[in-house]
Amino acid sequence: MLSAEDNELLTRVGPGTPLGSFMRQYWIPAVGSGDLELDGVPYRIRLLGEDLLAFRDTDGRVGVVEPFCAHRRAPLYFGRNEECGLRCVYHGWKFDVTGQCVDMPNEPADSTFKSKVSIGSYPARERGGVVWVYMGGATPPELPDFEWASVDAAQCHVSFRVQECNWLQALEGEIDSSHGPFLHSRIDGRSSTVMSLAYSMTDRRPRFEVLDTDYGVAIAARRNVDGDDTSYYWRVQQYLFPFYTMVPPGSRYPTIGGHAWVPIDDNETLAVCFSYHPATPLAEKVLTIFRDGTRDGRESGHLTSAGASPERDPRLPYNAHRSRYSVTNDFGIDWEDQRTTHFSGLPGPWPQDAACQVGMGPIVDRTQERLGSTDAGIVRVRRSLKRALTKMTKEGLAPASAVDPSLFRVRSVGMTLPREVGWVEGTAPHRKADGQDFAYTVPS
Ligand code: FES
Ligand SMILES: [Fe+2]
Repeated sequence: MLSAEDNELLTRVGPGTPLGSFMRQYWIPAVGSGDLELDGVPYRIRLLGEDLLAFRDTDGRVGVVEPFCAHRRAPLYFGRNEECGLRCVYHGWKFDVTGQCVDMPNEPADSTFKSKVSIGSYPARERGGVVWVYMGGATPPELPDFEWASVDAAQCHVSFRVQECNWLQALEGEIDSSHGPFLHSRIDGRSSTVMSLAYSMTDRRPRFEVLDTDYGVAIAARRNVDGDDTSYYWRVQQYLFPFYTMVPPGSRYPTIGGHAWVPIDDNETLAVCFSYHPATPLAEKVLTIFRDGTRDGRESGHLTSAGASPERDPRLPYNAHRSRYSVTNDFGIDWEDQRTTHFSGLPGPWPQDAACQVGMGPIVDRTQERLGSTDAGIVRVRRSLKRALTKMTKEGLAPASAVDPSLFRVRSVGMTLPREVGWVEGTAPHRKADGQDFAYTVPS
């Protein structure tokens, strides 16, 4: 459990909050490059409680700007995205990707007023099919050196989904290795396709060990291996400041996966989901599952066939990435399916996670929890984040990875090791993203 004060500290992200200030020191993956078309419709986003508009200009540059016109505050969402700028439809003032006003067609021709007028903007860069935004001041660091964002495009799939709860409870779901063989399992004797559950199902009482690192926390879950009393199966998840998780490869589709759990505001999270192979292009079968999102699909499987959920308020940020499953339809639970086929009866891995996490309420009351031994990773991540916030607020120290992008070059690991070999030592070479193939053991 957590004190009410700490629960506030670790969940609130608005301007001026300790956590909001902490996150603003990092580049934030904010929107898919593919969501922004050349001279296309401006895209409503919200990051850390701030409403913004993203657009791509005629030259392909991305602007992330405040959503209201400097003149009399008309919404720039209705703006004409033309000739390297966004032109307000009210009186025609035009702003470039830096927020500078570049045209005032209703002012005298010899007026220099436009040079004195601008709207707020944040630096934006693109890498790995993602637009990254820096909200922490005039001198951004280098982009985080994630392997998934730097491999060939054919080796990585990225998708976006809004989850209607606070970022921390979404993140805590992914570092909790023990829910897989329950929430994501089948009860009809068939094996699950996406999750690596073979070992998990034969040992549903994992032992957790955690390690503080300079980038966050490595969380290892140890399981017995059926019929082999000389080995353990280790799954090592990674938590990276400020809001990233990485999960080990699954059994049938060997990719490293993970998320940025980007706070839209205190009550909603943009789940930026990445899956990649460090060495080879993703198989077509894998991509089909990721893209089409059948029952076993990943994030994209949440969407309606048209993309956005039609019943949603179109003014909401990230409207095209809102799930068709929500509290309003009980996340599509099928009670008959729960009785006969799947443990949960919920339609697919991510609706299963979302139903549990969103169903807690926007910000779960952690004073009411009763944590067990398998929650060791969650406890350590909270502690480690709180310590980093204290360092920042009391000692003025920036987190190491905010200034050293190379600290993001890590991998998650799923592998068997001889029992006498400790996981810290045994997985060390495989936890580095160093260009070699990654380590995973296919359950027999
Ligand atoms: S309000 Fe935008 S140009 Fe007047
Ligand atoms: Fe899950």
